[in-house]
Amino acid sequence: MSEYKTVRGMRDFLPEEAKVMRFIESQARSIAKLYDFKEIITPVVESYELLSAKAGEEVKSRMFVFKDLGGRDVALRPEFTASVARLVASTLRTEPKPFRLFSIGSIYRYDEPQKGRYREFWQSNYELMGSNRPEADAEIILLTNALMKAAGLKNLVFKIGHVGVLREIFDQEKLKEKVQNVAMQLMDKKQYNDALKIIEKAEASAKCLTAIRELIQLKGENIFAVIEKMQACVSGFKQAVEAVKNLSEILKLVTESKKEMRIIVDAGFARGLEYYTGMIFEVSVPELDIALGGGGRYDRLIELFGGEPTPAVGVAHGLDRIMLAMQMQKAKPKISEEKTGIIIPIKEELKTEALKIAEGLRQSGIAVEVEVMGRKMAKALEDADRRKIDFAIIVGEKELKEGAVAFRDLKQRSQSTVLIPKLPETIKRKPAKQK
Ligand code: HAM
Repeated sequence: MSEYKTVRGMRDFLPEEAKVMRFIESQARSIAKLYDFKEIITPVVESYELLSAKAGEEVKSRMFVFKDLGGRDVALRPEFTASVARLVASTLRTEPKPFRLFSIGSIYRYDEPQKGRYREFWQSNYELMGSNRPEADAEIILLTNALMKAAGLKNLVFKIGHVGVLREIFDQEKLKEKVQNVAMQLMDKKQYNDALKIIEKAEASAKCLTAIRELIQLKGENIFAVIEKMQACVSGFKQAVEAVKNLSEILKLVTESKKEMRIIVDAGFARGLEYYTGMIFEVSVPELDIALGGGGRYDRLIELFGGEPTPAVGVAHGLDRIMLAMQMQKAKPKISEEKTGIIIPIKEELKTEALKIAEGLRQSGIAVEVEVMGRKMAKALEDADRRKIDFAIIVGEKELKEGAVAFRDLKQRSQSTVLIPKLPETIKRKPAKQK
């Protein structure tokens, strides 16, 4: 037994798991296509400065940071958003907007490993850049709903809030950005009392404290009733009133275009990443107490990276967590699989023939393996059965003389002699297996 193990927080995906993961990935790609997001591929390693600029203390403290051999401070990406914003602030700077950009790949955070929390995980990420309109926010929420459905998940719950409501109140109170960020981080962890203490210490007015205290309590599924109460809470803060209006418009667009979505509006909802300026949301299922995806509006990040002022909204989905949710809800991925076959030469001298037939079939797009363990036919067939292989081609001298082989359908348990050139059509005639 080897003493080598995966590094803590890292995982192997065995074939069955890898298949499900690739299924989710394929759904994420189809959604990108359907919503017309173009894929971009950005590096796993980026400069630490870029990644840490607006990630927020929580994510920043969990980055895999190191010096490369050239002495540069770099890190493994803890998300895609910074990379996409960098690209839009630089190379894509003069391209016409909006951008609808899709990325998929591995992400690294030094989180405490537990169910649904890994140090290497996978995200599908969608950024819509160049529009500050509520329909852009609605598109991002709707596509998230579509992806979760495509993965076969049900009973989705969307939690939606608006960072702008809180930030505008803080701004009007002239609270320093640093204080605001600390308060938001605490609210993200639901440490509301500590957040209030920080604001109080920064000499926020009694009016502000009352508003925040009330907002924190406001939450519910009767979403437009919650919105009304939010309006009343923030009535003394002009820009915050606008922010609530914006949230209300987004919610109207979403609920009117997709009636069956279950949404909870949470006025005290905050997210760990610091760049958010507007609507924020997360999606989950009741069986799993962690977000399957999350995102929101961030209108100032691209400018902060030296680009044109570009409003933007986006989302990232945790593919590992979607996989876990599928297991918990017993959602079966619809994977149609190609049939597979094995080619068994009955004699050592027929090895070349077996390889030749295999190459011919692969050229016709048929998946086959060649028996490579030198086993006798009965043993090889027994193993093929165990591995649920669909057919076997037995290469024997007698049939070969006629230009044929024995074709055994391992599912139907039937055998016939088939001319080698007729093999592809014989195999393709049988229906593909479904999993
Ligand atoms: P995030 O909420 O930090 O947002 O991550 C998005 C999703 O990644 C989470 O909802 C979760 O499903 C998954 N995730 C996060 N950490 C882990 C982990 N340790 N193990 C497994 N899955 C995890 C972002 O990353 C933003 N960049 C989203 C965004 C895009 N906002 C605007 N545009």
